[in-house]
Amino acid sequence: MSEGKRYDEIQGKIVHVYDGIEEADNDLPKWWLWTLYGAIVFAIGYWFYYQEFRIGKTPVEAYEAAAAASATTTADIDPTKLAEAATNPQAIAAGQGVFATNCAVCHGDKAEGKIGPNLTDDRWLHGGSGVDIYRTIFEGVPSKGMPNWGPTLGAKSVEDVTAYVMSLRGTNVPGKPPEGEPWSGDAAGGAPAEDTAAGADAGSGPSAADTNAADTNAAAPGPASPATPTNAP
Ligand code: HEC
Repeated sequence: MSEGKRYDEIQGKIVHVYDGIEEADNDLPKWWLWTLYGAIVFAIGYWFYYQEFRIGKTPVEAYEAAAAASATTTADIDPTKLAEAATNPQAIAAGQGVFATNCAVCHGDKAEGKIGPNLTDDRWLHGGSGVDIYRTIFEGVPSKGMPNWGPTLGAKSVEDVTAYVMSLRGTNVPGKPPEGEPWSGDAAGGAPAEDTAAGADAGSGPSAADTNAADTNAAAPGPASPATPTNAP
């Protein structure tokens, strides 16, 4: 056996030859080694960043944070922000797009009302302030056929479409006759919304007139009682 002596032009130095099979022993290519070292360094950094010191959010944590952020409930809606959006042409235009895609089926192309009420008059079933409108759209009125759009559209689109609906208030597009209570107030809403909700609940539907005193009393402790303290002062 002639070992380790030969130098092959392609394979480099031959270190072993067994039964005519030559074995060379070359260094690994530099690029390969540096990729390996880089991966090791990255893995250590990654481990400390995400697992040890928890500086970064893991995908699950990031997902949960994003879900929590997009599911902003109606409790922390900023009326000023909505009032600003309602005068912002970009928000209104975006909201108009959302409306055409999701809402026109029930509220009509011009929001003049179809299955759902006319949104261009100054009467509202659930209050006409920005916050009221946002809440109605976000949470819906499932028992009356108005879907809750919050989970589907997310906070941003609900805000845009709220801005669009706010911009329609009082434009009185001919369509479905007005329903609910008159609303005229600033964007902040508040007390009038409470009154409107209670009034709509008590007076909705033609059967309200037929309701006898006993029924009315029986129903009163429900929606009426939380509103009473608000109305009293
Ligand atoms: C499946 C039909 C349907 C769709 C789609 C729909 N709505 Fe409604 N909407 C209704 C109905 C029905 C009501 C009335 C609820 C009630 O009687 O309490 C309503 C009520 C409302 C109200 C309250 C009106 C008031 O007088 O207080 C607003 C605001 C509103 N919808 C906005 C929207 C927006 C914005 C969208 C699209 C994102 C939308 N709706 C999509 C059926 C729908």
